[in-house]
Amino acid sequence: MASARRIETLADKTLDYGVDGMRMVLTPEHESSFEELLLDWYSRQTAYGRIAGTGSYVPEGRLTNQDLQKLVETTPEWIQTRTGIGERRVVGEGQAASDLALPAARRALESARVGAEEIDLIVVATVTPDTWMPSTACWLQARLKCRRAIAFDVNAACSGFVYALSIADNFIRAGKVKSALVVGVDVFSKIVNYQDRGTCLLFGDGAGAVVLEATTGDSRVLSTHLYADGSGAKALEVPAGGSRLPACHETVERGLHTVTMPSGQEIFRSAVRGMTEAVQAALDENKVTVADLTLLIPHQANIRILEAVGERLGVDRSRLFTNLERYGNTSAASIPLALDEASRGGRLAPGDLVMLTAFGAGFTWGSALVRWG
Ligand code: ACO
Repeated sequence: MASARRIETLADKTLDYGVDGMRMVLTPEHESSFEELLLDWYSRQTAYGRIAGTGSYVPEGRLTNQDLQKLVETTPEWIQTRTGIGERRVVGEGQAASDLALPAARRALESARVGAEEIDLIVVATVTPDTWMPSTACWLQARLKCRRAIAFDVNAACSGFVYALSIADNFIRAGKVKSALVVGVDVFSKIVNYQDRGTCLLFGDGAGAVVLEATTGDSRVLSTHLYADGSGAKALEVPAGGSRLPACHETVERGLHTVTMPSGQEIFRSAVRGMTEAVQAALDENKVTVADLTLLIPHQANIRILEAVGERLGVDRSRLFTNLERYGNTSAASIPLALDEASRGGRLAPGDLVMLTAFGAGFTWGSALVRWG
């Protein structure tokens, strides 16, 4: 929260306060009560981002563990017990990220009762954009007819939604925009190698979105914490297709346009550590405890990762939201998809505290603490 700052106590004991560039001189007798009044007034002048509506969309195609057994050497039981995933949704021929983002965004706008033309900012988190240029956010902006919105993509893999939410919230806090559409969408079926049993079992396609609105009330994004460690870059990458290895016959023949993950176990350990730390940082900053949380919504990577995070933090199973049994890991879509299900399923009431946390390629990770309502 922003705060008033005492600049100096002048010789005559007159107090000089600074509040974000404004200065105010107070006499000593006003000090304690006036400081409180000033802080209260100031906090009400500062707008924060409130989640005003949610939406999500998954494609109709289903890829079950039985289907995967026909593609790679595995068993449905192995996949279920080692990951908790039962099936994933996959797009049809020709479907791209904005085709999933569009219905998710429309549902979020509808639930927020906000018109497309009222949106000032669109941030789309994705690593599977429609095209490298322009951004998926621009494709979406045109299709939604959000005529006045500025629009750009964020590449932070499975942490993308938490990154995008933080960016949009900070645009609102800075007073630059009043409403934002934050979307997480990924179409991993287009970049997964269905001959690699170490990765193809994990990922599915989907989209989720929230509308953030400026508020001076208590229901809002309370904090976001973001982290990155590029030394983990090789642990999860799509090697070709960028400027390092542009697409050519050889990159296609060598299968370099699909996800490579040399060590699932390294990611497993880093994800548990990163999400636990990010949640703890949010709890500490907001001076709340795990007991105050109504729900913990972690990125849906692997049920064993989620349970390990829950266990380390002391969050019981009933407050640990999971839906990966039905969707697998939908990357940037996983948190907004889960949040939308939690909201529509009646799992969140005004005033509830919900913690979001993610970990993904980069490495990137983070958390967001939200007061619902
Ligand atoms: N089917 C059957 N057997 C398999 C399969 C499979 N699909 N894959 C591996 N195995 C075998 C291995 O060969 C190995 O056999 P061995 O003991 O004879 O050598 C055994 O199963 C154990 O292999 P591990 O790799 O140790 O299996 P693990 O329990 O670590 O599970 C998994 C692998 C599911 C990938 C896990 O490490 C994981 O989920 N890691 C996190 C990765 C992740 O989530 N990446 C997504 C992006 S980042 C993020 O979202 C956080």
